[in-house]
Amino acid sequence: MCGIVGILGSKPVATDLVDALRRLEYRGYDSAGVATVENGHLERRRAEGKLRNLESRLLTEPLTGRTGIGHTRWATHGRPTERNAHPHMSAKVSVVHNGIIENFRELKAELTGKGHTFETDTDTEAVVHLVTEEMQGGRGPIDAVKAALGKLKGAFALGIIFAGEDDLMIAARQGSPLAIGHGRGEMYLGSDAIALAPFTDAITYLEEGDWAVMRRSGVEVFDRAGECVKRPLIKSVASSLLVDKGNHRHFMAKEIHEQPDVISHTLSNYIDMANGRVNFPDLGIDLTKISRVTISACGTAYYAGLVGKYWIERYARLPVEIDVASELRYREAPLPEGGLALFVSQSGETADTLATLRYARANGQRIASIVNVRTSTIARESDAVLPTLAGPEIGVASTKAFTCQLAALACLAIALGKARGTIDEALEQELVTALVEVPRLISSMLRDEEQFVELAQMLSKARDVLYLGRGSSYPLALEGALKLKEISYIHAEGYAAGELKHGPIALIDENVPVIVVAPEDDLLEKTVSNVQEVAARGGQIILISNANPDKIGCALAAHITAPKAHALTNPLIYAVPVQLLAYHTAVFMGTDVDQPRNLAKSVTVE
Ligand code: F6R
Repeated sequence: MCGIVGILGSKPVATDLVDALRRLEYRGYDSAGVATVENGHLERRRAEGKLRNLESRLLTEPLTGRTGIGHTRWATHGRPTERNAHPHMSAKVSVVHNGIIENFRELKAELTGKGHTFETDTDTEAVVHLVTEEMQGGRGPIDAVKAALGKLKGAFALGIIFAGEDDLMIAARQGSPLAIGHGRGEMYLGSDAIALAPFTDAITYLEEGDWAVMRRSGVEVFDRAGECVKRPLIKSVASSLLVDKGNHRHFMAKEIHEQPDVISHTLSNYIDMANGRVNFPDLGIDLTKISRVTISACGTAYYAGLVGKYWIERYARLPVEIDVASELRYREAPLPEGGLALFVSQSGETADTLATLRYARANGQRIASIVNVRTSTIARESDAVLPTLAGPEIGVASTKAFTCQLAALACLAIALGKARGTIDEALEQELVTALVEVPRLISSMLRDEEQFVELAQMLSKARDVLYLGRGSSYPLALEGALKLKEISYIHAEGYAAGELKHGPIALIDENVPVIVVAPEDDLLEKTVSNVQEVAARGGQIILISNANPDKIGCALAAHITAPKAHALTNPLIYAVPVQLLAYHTAVFMGTDVDQPRNLAKSVTVE
């Protein structure tokens, strides 16, 4: 993870580096730093904690260099202290790094043996000493980096500057994304185009194994074999207005409230609204002949995929295998001939998901991905891309990306069902009409936010919270629990309602709130039995349902009324109350809602 920036500027760059880092804080925010070439030598400023601490440091100890690199960190090796913060440097070289150098222990031992002294617990420092060692052996900066790259193992992105080199920066990409921005007499480097949006929209993405020699006059890109290669210059659509909370207190609140709009946009990409038909892009595979769909993703995106499994199996009668990406890949799951592998990712950069995509490709699957960032690596490595049009999601806890993923998955399930003859025209029309109603139904829930503020006070006192759901509400129970724990730090677990009696029921007493996601559908009766089992043991039941509470047959601590919706669309609707419960609990508890501890938005390490 971590965010990288670099600027070869025409004026002092420290302020612009920090500005760019602010846009990359989603990648990590436990420490930050910048380094510049100051009158021929390297200088750096670093600070533990949020970027504002680095800004204060720069006010008292400014940097004036026109060539610089910056970094915002999500710790992998070494605690998030100032000493471990990037850039790391020797007298000759300064490095910012995203990813993991897997062979850093071997390199450290070798370089220590050659007289290098390591000052930090990071893997990155091995790169600094390796390049320095090559330079001490007589190589110039470019050859030194080239030689060093050949010795590094792992997935990483690097930005490197050198003492005495005011017009040189080297970038390298192996497994972690890097974008080069072209300005007028200036050049930029960033983990993504969003970081560079205030400076330029002319972007070149480095490809796997590429490294680049940047000067103010331009860039030369080399591939893994050292051949000079041409990479296209793209006009980026990343807007410079992205980091705006509007009238909301947090990005998460803004993003929850954007859902009616962004779901609408996403649906309009897959639906012919006028005719009530799904208008699905060609996946380059005969939908009638797919033997199995294999879905893989991480975290919230995985829960979206799990809802997709329920939908595809129910509406298209097509078998679906699903697993979290970090497991699917390593258990070497056999993948069927004629299979479609589907990857779900907001960022499109999640390391585990990407690795599993490559595993699926190597095993002969057709690759489709549902991604929010169209220029991402996962998108670029897919045969077919199904974009979600959620817009940039800044809050670390995913909200609008999740519901947009659901919107795209619902359309995919319908397209598959249509092609396979399990959905006729009438059913297609019914399902499409149900989807088109979702934005309105969500808007109506968002108008009634006050009830969540009260409930949040009750939840904030809990030590443990359980979430229950059945059928396609089960992934919502998992997602609700994930949202609550990641932003409020309250321990929460989601369970399939029917599983409760097989163990988790032992946890229930009068201090445990149990949040039940139970739309009025053909499974409600079964869920009601599970709710009664909870009530009999004194659990505090918070019901989220459109059903009349009388149907539950026991006392409720609270009832959140959801609008009545079609069985297909319930997961989209019920996502909103579980998001709002988590959000208001976190706000009440005063946690850092948009940047919860230990997390990062884009998880580019395994
Ligand atoms: C939770 C959350 C994470 C992400 C996961 C996958 O709120 O945001 O669980 O869903 O890290 O990220 P993407 O979707 O970028 O692959």
